[in-house]
Amino acid sequence: MVDIMILFVTTLALVTAGELPFRNTSLSWDDRVNDLINRVTTEEIMVQMSRGGSGPHGGPAPAIPRLKIDPWSWNTECLRGDGDSGNATAFPQALGLAATWSTDVIHKVSEATSIEVRAKYNFFRENKQYGDHKGISCFSPVVNIMRHPLWGRNQETYGEDPLLSGTLAYSFVQGLQGGNPRYVRTNAGCKHMDVHGGPENIPVSRFSFDAKVTERDWRLTFLPAFKKCVEAGTYSFMCSFNRINGIPACGNKKLLTDILRKELGFTGYVVSDQAAIENIIDYHHYTNNSIDTEALCVNAGCNLELSTNLEKPIYFSMLDAIKAGKLSKETVLESAKPLFYTRMKLGEFDPLKMNPYNYLDMSLVQSEDHRQIALVAAKKSFVLLKNNGSFLPLTKRLKKIAVS
Ligand SMILES: *[C@@H]1O[C@H](CO)[C@@H](O)[C@H](O)[C@H]1NC(C)=O
Ligand SMILES: *[C@@H]1O[C@H](CO)[C@@H](O)[C@H](O)[C@H]1NC(C)=O
Ligand SMILES: *[C@@H]1O[C@H](CO)[C@@H](O)[C@H](O)[C@H]1NC(C)=O
Ligand SMILES: *[C@@H]1O[C@H](CO)[C@@H](O)[C@H](O)[C@H]1NC(C)=O
Repeated sequence: MVDIMILFVTTLALVTAGELPFRNTSLSWDDRVNDLINRVTTEEIMVQMSRGGSGPHGGPAPAIPRLKIDPWSWNTECLRGDGDSGNATAFPQALGLAATWSTDVIHKVSEATSIEVRAKYNFFRENKQYGDHKGISCFSPVVNIMRHPLWGRNQETYGEDPLLSGTLAYSFVQGLQGGNPRYVRTNAGCKHMDVHGGPENIPVSRFSFDAKVTERDWRLTFLPAFKKCVEAGTYSFMCSFNRINGIPACGNKKLLTDILRKELGFTGYVVSDQAAIENIIDYHHYTNNSIDTEALCVNAGCNLELSTNLEKPIYFSMLDAIKAGKLSKETVLESAKPLFYTRMKLGEFDPLKMNPYNYLDMSLVQSEDHRQIALVAAKKSFVLLKNNGSFLPLTKRLKKIAVS
């Protein structure tokens, strides 16, 4: 009897919510995405691709009321818990997690983080709250190779080893995204792509830096961890502030299309780092107007702009770039597809009841389970930097020791 009731309720939900094909769960994802793309105007796509977030100004991507599409927040951090949007379990910073040398710890931490992010999103959505750090699309993990202590935000990386970074990133991505065959719990976004931090041993402004990298070093040092992210199934990457051999990362077709899509087989979306696209004009002086910059980045494969400019993100020049013949409408439509596909896989256009992740609730935030995971991770992250005061009773005759 109970089973019949549940079946009845589910069927009812499918029929009432399924009036447009992009909401029809019997259709393939591709058909649904194509249907949706055919219903939005180029102007609407322009706005959707311009609102990746960034502080209170850049997002969320606005609602499309005539299609009953709600706003969407693309910018949630997820690196070590979800403290940016209120109470959350605080997990050790990424560098500490790397010091655990444990894919199991990383997986548990990212899973717990994802559960809390999703639980809060379910609450926010129910209360119609959209904005900064209120979404389920993550800007994590950070897989930059850290070779010099003076680079900024080193603590967010897994250190200097490409193999370790990639191995941990793989677990982190899978922990965030969850193991459901149909849905993604929260989507990962590996960053910052690429050569951020550079092979050079000289920290300079990461906003205007031109990383000079040989093809060999690029592929052996700066790409392997990103490749592991693709293998783990990440839905997103974030392109970095710097240039790579003269070409800004977010406008770098070799990186974002030839390598990332064609070679590594990535099919998701690329979001620009905060103001990275504006910086192509202001810091790199690589282009000198928004139309050329727009065309450069969209044609290169950057799907979503994370602008700090509320009035006029660079991607607001989309229609002008099309008019000027520098960007094709077809490219724009293709660029928007992974954005809507990701939202679909996160469950946005399906009946709520179909998706088990919609049942994660606020009681999971700072749960005893998650606190225990944080405690274990913290204990395993301890590193003895100096054996001061013979903290470890080691004999002086030992010159070097290896600890595993
Ligand atoms: C959903 O798609 C299926 C398969 O094409 C179709 O049979 C069904 O009528 C559609 N449902 C609605 C509510 O449009
Ligand atoms: C955060 O947790 C504290 C302590 O449990 C509680 O008093 C407070 O109301 C919580 N804040 C929110 C926004 O939930
Ligand atoms: C902008 O760049 C173009 C192409 O590099 C150049 O021809 C033009 O003179 C520049 N305009 C200004 C105002 O600097
Ligand atoms: C180092 O060890 C000495 C002797 O045990 C102690 O007095 C000192 O506080 C320790 N320093 C640190 C930084 O722990």
